[in-house]
Amino acid sequence: MFFSSRLLGVDIGASAIKIVEGSFSSKGFEVSNLACLPLPDGAITEREYNQKDLVVSQLKSGLESLKKKKPAVATSFRGSGVLTKRVLMPKVPEKEIPQQVRWEAEQVFPTDISNVLISYQLLGVGDNLPLAPPGTKAWDILLIGAQKEEASNLQTILSEADTKVKVMDLDFLTTADAAHSLLKFPKDESVGLVDIGALGTRVSVWKNGKVEFFREFALGGFYFTDSMARRLGLNHTDAEVLKVSDGNSIPHEAKEALKESLNRWKAELQQSEDIYVSQSSKELIQKWCFFGGGTQTPGLMESLTSDRIGPKIVNIDWKNLFFSKNKSIDANFLATWAPRLLTASGLTSRKG
Ligand SMILES: Nc1ncnc2c1ncn2[C@@H]1O[C@H](COP(=O)(O)OP(=O)(O)OP(=O)(O)O)[C@@H](O)[C@H]1O
Ligand SMILES: [Mg+2]
Repeated sequence: MFFSSRLLGVDIGASAIKIVEGSFSSKGFEVSNLACLPLPDGAITEREYNQKDLVVSQLKSGLESLKKKKPAVATSFRGSGVLTKRVLMPKVPEKEIPQQVRWEAEQVFPTDISNVLISYQLLGVGDNLPLAPPGTKAWDILLIGAQKEEASNLQTILSEADTKVKVMDLDFLTTADAAHSLLKFPKDESVGLVDIGALGTRVSVWKNGKVEFFREFALGGFYFTDSMARRLGLNHTDAEVLKVSDGNSIPHEAKEALKESLNRWKAELQQSEDIYVSQSSKELIQKWCFFGGGTQTPGLMESLTSDRIGPKIVNIDWKNLFFSKNKSIDANFLATWAPRLLTASGLTSRKG
């Protein structure tokens, strides 16, 4: 009999739940099973699962369609409210790093850390530990603090949907590993990974196998739709239909509104790079990868291509990188959803 230790990847995004089974290989990610279930606007907001029962029932129906009973799953949360800070800390023995990390987090995070799950990325060894004699070596660390409440809300939803949660990770850590599995970044190159979701955009920087920077800003697909809805006096649902249908059928005024919102979004993206450069490095980001449904916003990728980061954008061949031999998965459907599946696919390779 074939025993698989692979977990089912469950990504509960604000606009849709994505459930993926599959694995990475040198060719890309082979999807063996897939369910994508839309969620209405407002079902999930930045901090709240406002329509928890609906999320649970959509999740259940996705699992039923895949004939999964009490599956072992890996899931992740978006990280609204995630705190990050890059620090140099005393070069304690490796086994004492978690303890030291906790102490550092208590000093730098402006919140009661009893409500926060602490994690970190060990980036290497730095020179010149602050307040120590010049040249004192230090651990170079990205401290990460995530809200416990968000994790427990997600746990409740997954338990109510009858799943066994084996792994709960942060979106940006999962997607960074997934992007590297797909695109094989050269080791010392800095890569900006930009997830344009519904609620917001998350920018992380990957280098040498680690995430060394993370920032989220609350502008994503919902914001683009809203800008059109407001200008045209439409409700959100109708504006969304217009946005995703075909860029050409968008009336002129709505195009103008979209352009303004894209400019605001681009300014935030630019600011993210500026913060990265000032905090973590003296160098600009060398390559950029964009994913998430927001990449399909009319005009978004085009306006980036003509931007100064244009030549550094990696052209991702989603259609070929996500493939399936499962006859029940329509190739066009998979191609359309592929840019939105990075988190869920990355979760399948997390170890339980
Ligand atoms: N064809 C399309 N054209 C324009 N926008 C699209 C298209 N398809 C999806 N989107 C937008 O992508 C967003 C959803 O992308 P995605 O599934 O990556 O987000 P999510 O994971 O649900 O959200 P979040 O990560 O913020 O929780 C929505 O705002 C949606 O409007
Ligand atoms: Mg998402």
